[in-house]
Amino acid sequence: MNKDFLCLSDLSPDEGWELVKNALDFKRGTRRSEVLKGKTVGLLFLKPSTRTRVSFEVGINKLGGNPLYMTANQLQLSRGEDVRDTARTLSRYLDGLVVRTYAHAWLVELARHSSIPVINALTDFSHPCQILADVTTIYEYFGEETKKIKVAFVGDGNNVANSLMVGAGLFGLNLTVATPPGYEPNAKAYELGLKLAEQTGGKIELTHDPYEAVKNASVVYTDVWVSMGDAEDGLKKEFLKPYQVNEKLLSMASPGVKVLHCLPAKKGQEITEEVFEKHQEEIFNQAENRLWAQMALMEKLFS
Ligand code: CP
Ligand code: NVA
Repeated sequence: MNKDFLCLSDLSPDEGWELVKNALDFKRGTRRSEVLKGKTVGLLFLKPSTRTRVSFEVGINKLGGNPLYMTANQLQLSRGEDVRDTARTLSRYLDGLVVRTYAHAWLVELARHSSIPVINALTDFSHPCQILADVTTIYEYFGEETKKIKVAFVGDGNNVANSLMVGAGLFGLNLTVATPPGYEPNAKAYELGLKLAEQTGGKIELTHDPYEAVKNASVVYTDVWVSMGDAEDGLKKEFLKPYQVNEKLLSMASPGVKVLHCLPAKKGQEITEEVFEKHQEEIFNQAENRLWAQMALMEKLFS
């Protein structure tokens, strides 16, 4: 495994599955680790967070370590200190760094100049920790069928959609992504997903038709139409209206469909309140699995 976890492609398919299985063992209480005993892991967040921050802080504690939360405006970064100098300084105090930021290139630069492991806790480009937990959730529900069922992502082609494509490649999933024209996911993430899928037998299809994507899907996944750092764009929301996850769209899905949402949700936009509440069990289970998946990730990264 690489020093850092910036993209799902930092894992091999075997390592990815090992983490998913270890995550479920942590959840069942059959796995324990004190890998972070005596260690301090920094959390540097330039954007808000509920799930990622809290699940990392709790996970670091459960692994015997101490989390240290930092926002950019408390650091000299806010006064223009060089990212490279920030990386070199923090590496002298901390044993690892979890980072949520805007530009992915900034995170790559920070990781390159850090001598400690750096974990991507969301950038404008990707959200790999989220997808690690999502695959854990899908595997928890579908077990050995995970690679056979159809997974649909419907909505904006954002950071979550990008990482889901890479995840589909890494884990060999059968994924269809439906977005409006002009809001497709990132082409590099798609290519990376396809390249990984060659090894694993995964399938990644892009469409503009939400009904085609959801048809016979066992998992339907959506995310907000306006991501952190994006401008509120009325026109974009108009284009996205046909991609709302509602009862009509879900009537195309496989019986017993699981609906996933990485949260936070904007009910009435990408998902109706009715669908959200009907599927709240799987959505909050997905949120819970952030904790167990990240514990498995940190156990491996810090061993
Ligand atoms: N899904 C997710 O990353 O949530 P937060 O923004 O609350 O961390
Ligand atoms: N796409 C969303 C995900 C939030 C967890 C965002 O970047 O705001």
